[in-house]
Amino acid sequence: MSNDAVNKTRRRVLIGATCAVGAVGVVGAAIPFVGSWSPSAKAKAAGAPVKYNISKIEPGAMVTVEWRGKPVFIVRRTQAALDSLKAVEAQGVLLDPDSKETMQPSYAQNPERAINKEFAILLGICTHLGCAPMFRPDVGAADLGGDKWQGGFFCPCHGSKYDLAGRVYSGVPAPLNLEVPPHRYESDSVVVIGEDQEA
Ligand code: FES
Repeated sequence: MSNDAVNKTRRRVLIGATCAVGAVGVVGAAIPFVGSWSPSAKAKAAGAPVKYNISKIEPGAMVTVEWRGKPVFIVRRTQAALDSLKAVEAQGVLLDPDSKETMQPSYAQNPERAINKEFAILLGICTHLGCAPMFRPDVGAADLGGDKWQGGFFCPCHGSKYDLAGRVYSGVPAPLNLEVPPHRYESDSVVVIGEDQEA
């Protein structure tokens, strides 16, 4: 290699090294920035309450809201859905129809398991092994018992079933009703998930 060629090669190596240092410098500068965001992200994960405008939910529909990294189902129940709760009870197929187990705050220990019975607010986590149940409001679904199915939630992992108040059926792997998280209503249309209603 001629001296000229050697010099060019050295120059390229030096330029490469400078770029690498520059890149490290950028990463180094980015770390304090990321760090300054971490506390609020941590605080959020630790349990900041979540507000949701329930007036946006269509009757009969469900939305999923994230709280503490967990899915919270909010279902706007129609009158037919509320009537279905009594129909399921009459069938005698529920494990804990009166919600005696402590899977809800005391203010939600009622047949609808709710403060405002139009809205079911439930953790979307199966009480068997933690899968996400599917919302199955389709009354009479052939794969879920036909005429006996009044709508509710179905866990595809091992077949647990819950009604539209999150009450678990008997004879399925899940041992408990779906959990009702703490919540309160800030107004007729805004629910705050993660804060208890005052007694
Ligand atoms: S995790 Fe839902 S039935 Fe097993």
